[in-house]
Amino acid sequence: MSAAPTARHAAITSVGHFLPETRLTNGDLEEMVETSDEWIRTRTGIEERRILTDDDKATSYMATEAAQEALDKRGLAPDAVDVIVVATVTPDMLFPATACRVQDNLDASNAWGFDLSAACSGFIYALTTGAQFIESGRAETVLVIGADTMSSIVDYTDRTTCILFGDGAGAVLLEADAEAGLHDAVHHVDGEHGDLLRMEGGGSLHPPTHATVDAHMHYLDQAGRQVFKFAVTRMADVCEEVLERNDLSADDVDYLVPHQANQRIIDATAARMGLASDQVMVNIDRYGNTTAATIPLCLFDWEEELQRGDDLILTAFGGGFTWGAAHLTWAYD
Ligand code: COA
Repeated sequence: MSAAPTARHAAITSVGHFLPETRLTNGDLEEMVETSDEWIRTRTGIEERRILTDDDKATSYMATEAAQEALDKRGLAPDAVDVIVVATVTPDMLFPATACRVQDNLDASNAWGFDLSAACSGFIYALTTGAQFIESGRAETVLVIGADTMSSIVDYTDRTTCILFGDGAGAVLLEADAEAGLHDAVHHVDGEHGDLLRMEGGGSLHPPTHATVDAHMHYLDQAGRQVFKFAVTRMADVCEEVLERNDLSADDVDYLVPHQANQRIIDATAARMGLASDQVMVNIDRYGNTTAATIPLCLFDWEEELQRGDDLILTAFGGGFTWGAAHLTWAYD
């Protein structure tokens, strides 16, 4: 009689990060647009963000630094990596993919990879995608990276968006584990509302011309108030969905790791789930909204406190609309 098959979960076995040194504070923004530190803090929770200022560096640089740190902490050589998934809406260029540049920078000679575009939900989408290579046995080591240079697509004359975003990268390594790791993930897309949060220019619909640049179409554009209403309900709904279908209650959750778009959205989601504030990972005050990087940057900052077996709910909402939630158990102390 053959033995029962062993479960093969995709577990996070290391986390790396990169944050540029240059800080853009609310005080700096007061000098650039008509806003105030008080308005930004109370409406968003943000105090400062990091900005990549080196002209010759872009998203692949930050992604590589984060990935290298994750590999070093795990003591793995780059040639151990089988797949690289980079979640980003600010690739170095439309092609080659940022993942190809990361592969070259790392000298990950055995890896293939690709970019994944799901805006602020990018990291959760990439985590689910990367996990499937592990779960199926097609890969032993997967790098999942969330990296965005939001300063490259933010209009610093638009006070409704420029106060929100920052630059950064986070990377996780996925490896097989019989017990810990990703257990479930729920994802949604609602393309009907895509025009509420987008960058219209530069693609095949509106290739770059003088006219598109003059019309600021190469900048991120957001109908903030409307997006807020969707984000606040959808994020809480999808967390409830993942809890219910896994027969989990708030008591089973050790940490919520929410995308960092607005402190008020984070608080509303935690309140709906019945979680205390010390169970919620928050870095929006220090980094703003780093799009695909917010969740792995939170994991990096909380790594010391996490223990094998801890139950985490990850959740995000972003342009598309895209949103989702994942349940995983932490794999290492
Ligand atoms: N400083 C000062 N005043 C500002 C401002 C700023 N930076 N930005 C906007 N305002 C003003 C508006 O012009 C408006 O003035 P009015 O009432 O005279 O028209 C007022 O503040 C309120 O604007 P509103 O857009 O209703 O504010 P808000 O409370 O919704 O906060 C956001 C704006 C962008 C912070 C918020 O809507 C938000 O976080 N949206 C969702 C972001 C998100 O989740 N994105 C998805 C994932 S990336």
